[in-house]
Amino acid sequence: MLPDLIAPSILSADFARLGEEVDNVLAAGADVVHFDVMDNHYVPNLTIGPMVCEALRKHGVTAPIDVHLMVKPVDDLIRMFIDAGATYITFHPEASEHIDRSLQLIKDGGCQAGLVFNPATPLHHLDYVMDRIDMILLMSVNPGFGGQKFIPGTLDKLREARRRIEASKRTIRLEIDGGVKVDNIREIAAAGADTFVAGSAIFNTEDYAATIAALREQIAL
Ligand code: DX5
Ligand code: ZN
Repeated sequence: MLPDLIAPSILSADFARLGEEVDNVLAAGADVVHFDVMDNHYVPNLTIGPMVCEALRKHGVTAPIDVHLMVKPVDDLIRMFIDAGATYITFHPEASEHIDRSLQLIKDGGCQAGLVFNPATPLHHLDYVMDRIDMILLMSVNPGFGGQKFIPGTLDKLREARRRIEASKRTIRLEIDGGVKVDNIREIAAAGADTFVAGSAIFNTEDYAATIAALREQIAL
């Protein structure tokens, strides 16, 4: 297994002080910045784009930036996020007409590529592309908003995704996104996740370091 990573979703950060919020959460022990991109088309909400990613890099953020594209179509924004300094770029298979081509575009840009699965999206989209996947992201809420409740059926799906990763014999991260909290992260880790997005669970608390430590403590149990 790869080392576990905590990836705060900046969707729940204070956008008026974004640079400071990202600095604080990284200083508090976060590993990765989870960057939610919503287009008010693929999902019913509108957030931030490549200019904000580039601004964070210029601000001095050197940690991996995990760009979760909830947009349709995907290819233009993939190109822009490669230029903006993304580390991981993931997209939803329903949002691309040419999944293989979009994955290759990410790889050719020197970024890590991944597919994102909504709660009701089957994992068979992985069947012919496992050789170019660096990350599988399972949504444990319907995408569009922070602060929703974890959908328990995702635990079985995590186990299935973990089996697929083991069978591939490749190094692939298994990320979970939506409703991850101190009181459920333990069973999520046990089901096979190694990369944990948490938005409201971290940013809605006063002490980010204490919350991140509590999340890690649960994973280690
Ligand atoms: C939802 C986003 C998530 C969201 C997670 O569409 O992809 O990253 O911010 O927020 P919490 O952790 O509050 O469920
Ligand atoms: Zn996300």
